[in-house]
Amino acid sequence: MIVIEGINKTIGEKAILRNINLQIKQGETIGLIGPNGAGKSTVLNIISGLMKPSSGRIKIFGKQLKEHPLEIKNKIGFLSHDSFLYDHFSPLENLKFFAKLYGFEVEERKVKGLIREVGLAYFMHEPVRSFSRGMIQRLNIARALIHDPDILLLDEPHTSLDQQAIQILNRFISKMKKRGATIIMVTHDLKEAFHLCDRILFMKDGTIIDDFPVSEQKVNLIFEKYFAQVGSDEKNF
Ligand SMILES: Nc1ncnc2c1ncn2[C@@H]1O[C@H](COP(=O)(O)OP(=O)(O)O)[C@@H](O)[C@H]1O
Ligand SMILES: [Mg+2]
Repeated sequence: MIVIEGINKTIGEKAILRNINLQIKQGETIGLIGPNGAGKSTVLNIISGLMKPSSGRIKIFGKQLKEHPLEIKNKIGFLSHDSFLYDHFSPLENLKFFAKLYGFEVEERKVKGLIREVGLAYFMHEPVRSFSRGMIQRLNIARALIHDPDILLLDEPHTSLDQQAIQILNRFISKMKKRGATIIMVTHDLKEAFHLCDRILFMKDGTIIDDFPVSEQKVNLIFEKYFAQVGSDEKNF
């Protein structure tokens, strides 16, 4: 479904990703875990088409990302640290704008429903420039889901969310899983990964150093595995 072959990314002199090979089946939920600077966000940026690899190939739904970028991007929802929202637009205007950008005619009722679901009903018509980080992140969740994507890329999605928003997000993730979406989630929370993911990848220094299914592992074994391979002196984890 997603096939990544021999991806390398070099910026200047620095090798950021080194020979990443990965096959992800439709409907899998993958947890991507590793210390800061490991290259996790770069992997998501490359799969989303926002960043080009220096070498290697990516096939999604049997098509080369390089040759069908728009068609593939329309199937991907990306929740990253960058919000891509327009400051002077309200949540309603932002979501309608993005739906249009994806080439979707989305019903206003659906957009409003999504805004309510992320808990921003009261701010539906307020420009987002006055929003807190948590509110922006709630709206980003709605933005990533507005076009019913088949693939969801989540970069530390729980960061800066309050408990209620974490529950909202986890409900969306479960709903997407049930719908058969494929999800790749970068997280620092091993427990969260254990509960939400079917498979976990450890990354370090631009490579994947482990790849295992979650069902066989107890959460404390995952902790042990992580610290054995990545190191217990990892302050940034
Ligand atoms: N646009 C960029 N220019 C230069 N270096 C970058 C750029 N993007 C990422 N890097 C570097 O690549 C490495 C991996 O970054 P990143 O993928 O963000 O790691 P992670 O998400 O695992 O913390 C880091 O050392 C970072 O400094
Ligand atoms: Mg990152």
